[in-house]
Amino acid sequence: MLPLILTVLVVVSLPYWLPRLVVALRMWIFARINGDEGVPIPGPLVDVRHFTRIYSDPAADGRSRGARLSDLFWYWLAPGPEVHQEHLEPGERYDDVARTTRRILARPKPDVERLAAACAAHTLDATRPGLVRLRDLMMPVWAELYYELVFQRPCPPEARDLIVGNANDVVTALKCCGLRHMGRRARLTAYLRERLDEIPHALPASLSREEQVFYLQGAFFNTAVVQMSEAMAHLLMAIAQHPEVQHRLASEPGDDAYLDRVINESLRRYPLFGIAHRITSKEITVDERTTLPAGSVLCFDYPAFHTTGYDDPARFDPDRWRTLPVREANHVPFGVTANRACPAKGVAPLTMRVVARETLRRFAVHSSAAHTRSMPNRGPCVLVEREDDRALRMRLALLRLRDRWEDVWRSLVQLGLGTYMVWDARRRRPAGRYFAEATR
Ligand code: HEM
Repeated sequence: MLPLILTVLVVVSLPYWLPRLVVALRMWIFARINGDEGVPIPGPLVDVRHFTRIYSDPAADGRSRGARLSDLFWYWLAPGPEVHQEHLEPGERYDDVARTTRRILARPKPDVERLAAACAAHTLDATRPGLVRLRDLMMPVWAELYYELVFQRPCPPEARDLIVGNANDVVTALKCCGLRHMGRRARLTAYLRERLDEIPHALPASLSREEQVFYLQGAFFNTAVVQMSEAMAHLLMAIAQHPEVQHRLASEPGDDAYLDRVINESLRRYPLFGIAHRITSKEITVDERTTLPAGSVLCFDYPAFHTTGYDDPARFDPDRWRTLPVREANHVPFGVTANRACPAKGVAPLTMRVVARETLRRFAVHSSAAHTRSMPNRGPCVLVEREDDRALRMRLALLRLRDRWEDVWRSLVQLGLGTYMVWDARRRRPAGRYFAEATR
């Protein structure tokens, strides 16, 4: 009898301890496979007070060459990681690409707002109340918006599906929830290759035609779509789990200042980057005792930075931004201006605001699922037509139970697939080989 009771207890309690154990094991395996080449910042060598200064140092300018970590990012971002803006080394090619991205994103504010509202309406008007995964719900919105910014014409359904397929495949692999499907990504490459001449923007002249295709696919139809979908999923999850915030947003729909504080708090609490890395091209002096030699791999830890120096940092509190000036806080959701900050740092919050309003105008959002920074559950959330929340309590109880049990299986999948992909990336060495060939 006792063994049976013990077995039942272990099985029933699985969701409460197994996922955490598996995450710890995964981190340990990743660290073992990747080695300990990085200097974590903040960390024992560089404390949090020096975070922004070291990040902004002109010698913290290497992107991919010389870090084993790069193989893993290139593996996940393929095809064409060597011309992805995020991973290009500084120089003329990088400048050319960065200029093009800025040009494509530069649209008058009212135009972008109108476009964001139209793309949101297109998806949301076809969405029925019920259980959704917020990241999945948001992807077509951003696929359509970024297609239109690049092609300057409405996005056909075929293109939207290819973009969503590509972006979803990249982010699923990045979270170790699935393997890469290069065929899915190649279908978008082929679509873009065929239509390259229809793009009204001048594309980087320093890239070949094939590289231009990869550049568009990487920056706009992967990074832009993934980042915006994740950022919106975090924002809506946070709103769904803070009824007082939702109530205020719904009852004062014109209060943009409050919505901006909610967005800011969401980006602080759930930064999209875990770690951004740089390779130093020269020595950097931290203080009289510490110098970082050239060739160091600096790992800027966003979650650690965003939770240091705040009162009760784990609390989701948009009103902290009423009195705390953003510039004085440890808050860099779009990176640091002096070192390759995000080119969408202007347009991203603006469009998030519009899409949040469009969503909250149609639905109340509720979620009892886990909300973590990496959000492997893709943000399960119940959409309820405003004024109709019958049976909501029961739905949320079931959702909590389902999310917990899904987490057991998912954490095991992440452990297995993550370990395989880290090993596969180390074996293929896409970045290492590329730079070895370039110097030959
Ligand atoms: C809320 C949404 C977004 C957030 C929070 C975000 C955050 C960031 C951060 C923190 C960095 C700097 C990483 C580093 O220092 O290495 C970055 C870089 C970048 N982001 Fe974003 N991003 C967002 C949306 C977008 C969008 C919509 C695009 C569209 C093109 C984009 C394109 C890029 C590119 C190309 C870089 C590399 C910049 C460079 O190295 O020159 N991001 N992003």
